[in-house]
Amino acid sequence: MGLKEDIDIERLPRHIAIIMDGNGRWAKEKGEDRLFGHFHGVESVRNIVEGCAELGVQYLTLYAFSTENWDRPKDEVTGLMELLIDTIRQEVPTLNKNNIRLHVIGNFEMLPPAAKKELDDAVGETKNNTGLNLIMALSYSSRWELTDAVKKIAADVKSNKLKAEDITQDTLQKYLSTAEFPDPELMIRTSGEFRISNFLLYQLAYAELYFTDTLWPDFRKENLYQAIIDYQQRERRFGKTTEQIKNNTEQVL
Ligand code: IPE
Ligand code: IPE
Ligand code: MG
Repeated sequence: MGLKEDIDIERLPRHIAIIMDGNGRWAKEKGEDRLFGHFHGVESVRNIVEGCAELGVQYLTLYAFSTENWDRPKDEVTGLMELLIDTIRQEVPTLNKNNIRLHVIGNFEMLPPAAKKELDDAVGETKNNTGLNLIMALSYSSRWELTDAVKKIAADVKSNKLKAEDITQDTLQKYLSTAEFPDPELMIRTSGEFRISNFLLYQLAYAELYFTDTLWPDFRKENLYQAIIDYQQRERRFGKTTEQIKNNTEQVL
């Protein structure tokens, strides 16, 4: 193996976002129920968080639960939510040991208040860490986030905190739940699905997309390295021409 050596550490994506998909199919292949897949998906989360921290990636956003996932069968929703919240709580000492700062984004009005408190506590206990920023998207959807941002902007215009004519792309960015993070340069989706499923629609405007058939519970550091190597072979043009990019090295990440 040894893919890690092929990564150009000077040109790492600063922010990687992952749609962790395929837990249910992984479990089904093994004749188990869907929660068994989610349970094993947690192992992949640990492994990939560690892999990103070792490499020096600054931001990792993991799509763990969408607002649409609330419509799944009640048993799965309850089991998965418990697993996510319990895992986050249990991982806090490891996060602190590895200098990882936890953030959560999503519509927390849909969470039971006790779960919300657990998340707030976990976030608070890691807030002084300065290494990898781990952003868990939980009860998240991009359309919810954009609608929420528009509502807040409208309220600020109404109360004269903001002038409608002063609204720029920067203003909108500041009202998103990801305001403090740079946009992802690389978005990975596992399990062979080629869609975005309501994830970071605004922030992924110029992200490189990487799709793999590997199901999330099988995804490990070597798969991550593969995705980063693939990313590093791409030319990011941002609307410009190849010649412009080649003549101005500053444009290359
Ligand atoms: C990803 O795996 C986890 C969540 C969406 C919560 P799935 O549960 O979507 O697994 P598949 O896609 O049905 O295999
Ligand atoms: C996207 O996966 C959401 C998460 C990984 C949390 P889904 O399995 O819910 O997406 P669809 O339904 O296949 O688009
Ligand atoms: Mg799925």
